[in-house]
Amino acid sequence: MKTIISACGKAILFGEHSVVYGHPAIAVPISSARTCAYVQEAGTLTISSVNIGGKYEVLKEPLKKGNPAYALQETVFNTLEYFGLPKEQNLEISVNSALPFAGGLGSSASMAIAVIRALAAHFNRKISDLELYNLAYKSEIINHSMPSGIDIATIIYEKPIYFKTNEPNIIKPLTCNKKIPLIVADTGMRSITADVVKSVKKEREKDPAKYDNIFSKITEIVEHAQQMIEKDRIHELGPLMNQNHELLQQADISSPELDKLVAVAKGAGALGAKLVGGGRGGCMIALAESNPLEIKKALINAGAINAFFTEIF
Ligand code: PMV
Repeated sequence: MKTIISACGKAILFGEHSVVYGHPAIAVPISSARTCAYVQEAGTLTISSVNIGGKYEVLKEPLKKGNPAYALQETVFNTLEYFGLPKEQNLEISVNSALPFAGGLGSSASMAIAVIRALAAHFNRKISDLELYNLAYKSEIINHSMPSGIDIATIIYEKPIYFKTNEPNIIKPLTCNKKIPLIVADTGMRSITADVVKSVKKEREKDPAKYDNIFSKITEIVEHAQQMIEKDRIHELGPLMNQNHELLQQADISSPELDKLVAVAKGAGALGAKLVGGGRGGCMIALAESNPLEIKKALINAGAINAFFTEIF
């Protein structure tokens, strides 16, 4: 028997990085780009991933920290343990994701959630959203060191959310009667989110006033954007995306490649554009209300290795 389960990707519309420090952010699911997890009988416990590369018999030779598939292995071990099952399973767990690895679209969270859900389905276990969140959060700690939790919350609920870390987290589903048309484009530069998050932490320690000022301004943008979304005033998100991108540039979270694609998208008619996720590489998003195909073409011509259109809500 083969169990197959998928999980979506996500894009942070407003508030990446500041969300790590308790500020609010808005994120949306990307349902058209998903991670599939497969569980099937095998000779020994094996994990494999097309994206990360390799096929590992993890009981014979457990993966060490630093291996790109380490978090996947730990997700499998933690999930089996949570279900009260031994590690000694004759199963192959494989993942295949349409999301770029280290691209700012939540690929690691999507992988963890798909794998946990697939194992739960394979063993016929019910798992609540909170249990899933807590298990996936453990994987995110391995990947991201100090994750806010916004990636997993967005992917689990597969809904646009307003998110703020707290005890418990504030997760507010957003409603809108209009669709948000986005172009997502990939610079092709891979950027490990944990590295950027750690570097921002270091810079913030050196100059807390600068970062607190930037993060407070991003918070104002998030609060304003939330109101615009709920009033169906989608076109007003464009200038807010531009402002958010400028603030991320000031915090040294952008890159020349991201800045170039952001400028090209605006030049091609996008109402606004910004980097998305961890930054310093990976993807950007553009609000494409009128001419999405032209914006997509312009981004590809400007060097994006991939670009796709997606509608939110
Ligand atoms: O790069 P991604 O898709 O994992 O997004 C990271 C978002 C951050 O705000 C930078 C980190 C976090 O945990 O919220």
